[in-house]
Amino acid sequence: MDVHEAVTTRRAVRGFTGRPVPKGSLERVMSAAAWAPSGSNIQPWHAYVVTGGPLAEIKKRAGERLAAGDPWDEPEYEMYPPELTSPYRERRSAFGEQRYGALGIPREDLEARQRAASANWDCFGAPAALFCYIDRTMGPAQWSDVGMYLQTVMLLLRAEGLHSCPQMAWAKFRRSVAEVLSPPDELLLFCGMSIGFADAAEDPGRTGRAPLEETVTFVGD
Ligand SMILES: Cc1cc2nc3c(=O)[nH]c(=O)nc-3n(C[C@H](O)[C@H](O)[C@H](O)COP(=O)(O)O)c2cc1C
Repeated sequence: MDVHEAVTTRRAVRGFTGRPVPKGSLERVMSAAAWAPSGSNIQPWHAYVVTGGPLAEIKKRAGERLAAGDPWDEPEYEMYPPELTSPYRERRSAFGEQRYGALGIPREDLEARQRAASANWDCFGAPAALFCYIDRTMGPAQWSDVGMYLQTVMLLLRAEGLHSCPQMAWAKFRRSVAEVLSPPDELLLFCGMSIGFADAAEDPGRTGRAPLEETVTFVGD
């Protein structure tokens, strides 16, 4: 698979088959992803790749909390600015319309939206997941390094025939994740990522993108 195909076939998959992810694939992906760039090569990430019993335990703990109505963990970073300005606000609501519209959930049915969102904490049925941490002393430039790292992982997964869904949602159950993974105190959970083989029945269609001229300016000949 060439890079162009990996980029254009990657999408946030929210339905996976239970087919196990070969360990060799995960090892190949993580070994190659280590070559992702970072400012001054400081590699400010730490990824836990989790399968089997430990992942089942994380899902179970999150599921129990959800069922008990246990409140989410206080986020350790701001997922979005409190006041999203235009055009980001409109793009976000267009995404919500598409995501929940594809599931037949109307805008006003917040409970049904919440139920659909709760599949996040079952990793949408995926048999593998990655939990990506960043050292809490890091600033915006290093968070951007982590983003590049995660995209590198997701593209390499495509080359193995695998799909993924990056999930900030896991930051809301970071304590349950930490109970199983025991990360050192200096690490902060940025996001989780579901990994597996896509369930062909799930595909809700491609998300759109803003017209190129809204996000890119070509200058020169
Ligand atoms: C950092 C990050 C966090 C995300 N968190 C979630 C999440 O918690 N749950 C979810 O279903 N999708 C999540 N997504 C997926 C986005 O909604 C998705 O990438 C976006 O709508 C574009 O769609 P596409 O990836 O299918 O092209 C996240 C994506 C990124 C990059």
